[in-house]
Amino acid sequence: MPEVIYLNGRIVPREEAVISIDDRGFLFGDAIYEVIRSYDGRLWAFERHMQRLAGSLAAIDMAYVDVEEIGKAIRETYTASEIPDALVYLQVTRGVAPRSHSYTRDLKPTVLITVRDIIGGMAEVSPDGMTAVTKPDLRWRRCDVKSTNLLPNILVKTQAHQEGAYEAILVHPDGYVTEGSSTSVFWVREGEVCTVPLGPEVLPSISRGIVVEILQDEGLPLVEEHIPLAEFRKVDEIFLASTTPEVCPIITLDGEPVGTGRAGPLTLRLRAAFRARVEAGDDAPR
Ligand code: PDD
Repeated sequence: MPEVIYLNGRIVPREEAVISIDDRGFLFGDAIYEVIRSYDGRLWAFERHMQRLAGSLAAIDMAYVDVEEIGKAIRETYTASEIPDALVYLQVTRGVAPRSHSYTRDLKPTVLITVRDIIGGMAEVSPDGMTAVTKPDLRWRRCDVKSTNLLPNILVKTQAHQEGAYEAILVHPDGYVTEGSSTSVFWVREGEVCTVPLGPEVLPSISRGIVVEILQDEGLPLVEEHIPLAEFRKVDEIFLASTTPEVCPIITLDGEPVGTGRAGPLTLRLRAAFRARVEAGDDAPR
């Protein structure tokens, strides 16, 4: 199915989807984004994405942007696409102005929405598990903001792919694991599911939030901790959580098997529970 593109107020043909060379998103990465998935004609976790969007905008001094208006545009663009299982990309830049580091608050934000079929992009993720390598986390100190400044992420993701791995898991300069280049990271130690506490070092992942709720619903404890890499290498299970691969088992880390080298029982249980929530459309903020 063809993609549908919305740019600054209307759905446009691809040839008309053109951005100014003075757009601050292009010049400075002065922009934030969201990636939303739809299942079977319904946008998943939409309200949560809109809440995070509002948080990102506020964090970069763009709280004046009308998030409700953007939400309406996303829904309209998605509906126009008629794509049941889509990946919806939203980017909001500060707007267009001759290049100067400092900005003024009167610029008109550039709003881009694309809706594409997700199926092709998902083929690479195997439910049996994927592989990861560890890489230094060279990102800025506000990784809780979903900014388009993704140079460190794209460099390590590409290195991971070149090394035959699916994801790069990032290690903070202080020696502990933070998250994947485009995923949240969980691990299982002595029967307990663990992840990194929310804070400026990690994105408040929507999928992470769903997994945490599932743990609460199932009466399973969650440990939030900073785990040193040496300890991380010894855990029983590792899994990623993200809008695209959902709950994704990691079965090797830097070429070594994680636990038994097969997707672990808690990972599979949470994966199934996540799928069940998706099937039920159970995504309302709690
Ligand atoms: N990435 N951590 C990082 C650094 C991410 O970029 C993402 C998502 C996640 C998972 O967040 P969520 O559950 O809200 O998708 C964690 C998106 C999919 C991307 O950049 O394409």
